[in-house]
Amino acid sequence: MPVERCFNNSEDLFPLPENMKELYGPFGFPAARDNSRPYISSNFVMGLDGRVSFRELAGQAGGREVSRSADDLWLMNFLRAHHDAQIMGASTLRDEPGPDGWGWSYAIKDEQLRSYRQDTLRLGRQRVLILSGSGDIDLNFRVFRSSEVEPWIVTASAGATNIEARLQKLGRKGTVKIVAVGDGSIVDISQAVRLLRAEHGIDTLLCEGGPSLYGEMLKEDLVDEEFRTISLQVLGTSTKPDLQRPTPYGNSSFTPETAPWFRLISLHYALPYHAFFRLRYEGPRRFQPPRDVASGRPGKG
Ligand SMILES: NC(=O)c1ccc[n+]([C@@H]2O[C@H](COP(=O)([O-])OP(=O)(O)OC[C@H]3O[C@@H](n4cnc5c(N)ncnc54)[C@H](OP(=O)(O)O)[C@@H]3O)[C@@H](O)[C@H]2O)c1
Repeated sequence: MPVERCFNNSEDLFPLPENMKELYGPFGFPAARDNSRPYISSNFVMGLDGRVSFRELAGQAGGREVSRSADDLWLMNFLRAHHDAQIMGASTLRDEPGPDGWGWSYAIKDEQLRSYRQDTLRLGRQRVLILSGSGDIDLNFRVFRSSEVEPWIVTASAGATNIEARLQKLGRKGTVKIVAVGDGSIVDISQAVRLLRAEHGIDTLLCEGGPSLYGEMLKEDLVDEEFRTISLQVLGTSTKPDLQRPTPYGNSSFTPETAPWFRLISLHYALPYHAFFRLRYEGPRRFQPPRDVASGRPGKG
């Protein structure tokens, strides 16, 4: 965990082990601004140009290629350790088959962080939620077979029918928890996260992408914090114009008046290639019109 602390203005609420606290500094979440849903953070690694995936390059899409950092991996595990559950869109699962084709378990791999989550924070087995409207996900992916995590699929009625039928056929009925929200194949994200809190006790939720899911969350005003690793490289544009290399924000679009702002909470770094930002959502900001210096009156623009 050789991350260096530049600035850390966090609440000091979690009982971090001494060695972690010494390096990272304090860690905590503030009181929620909306108690009807979980406190929602997101974690992405992106290049200098904001892109998060060499997406069209088969076998090289995804965060690991962008990150290339053991420190970033540690931070990802640190965040997983502190949240009740993590969520990701089904395309991230499909795009990142890993070395053997079966993807990742998304479990915390750091022993100290794993026991800290389990024995000190007592947050139980990691709940890994995959969001899929279609339900067209290969149920043999590692995350659905790993004993290290509890796999859930968040979907709507059509996806639930699809997944339940396939689990039954595989003789694995009940091994994946299915949360069905509404009819058809589109999930109302806002309704889904409210249900996760009210009916499943998920008070803190970590969104690990991808951009489509996260962009929807931002548009729906469901975001409280962003953890952003900046990997000091340039990804550039896609070699296939029909498959763009995305930023974390999907197809969300704002104007200068509606663009959401974030406030800096902490800044860490790992020399020479990585910086780690923790940001808190503030929403659109209002600015005074520029003033005419001589008269002090609002200027002409
Ligand atoms: N650098 C990083 O930190 C990082 C992190 C995560 C991902 N990534 C990259 O981002 C790319 C994938 O991102 P993405 O934006 O294409 O996909 P995504 O957000 O991971 O997943 C999109 C999928 O999620 C489901 N979904 C999303 N919103 C839904 C809704 N309202 N209702 C129902 N289902 C919904 C749909 O699944 P169905 O199609 O099954 O219906 C949809 O196709 C990959 O290249 C991945 O490697 C990078």
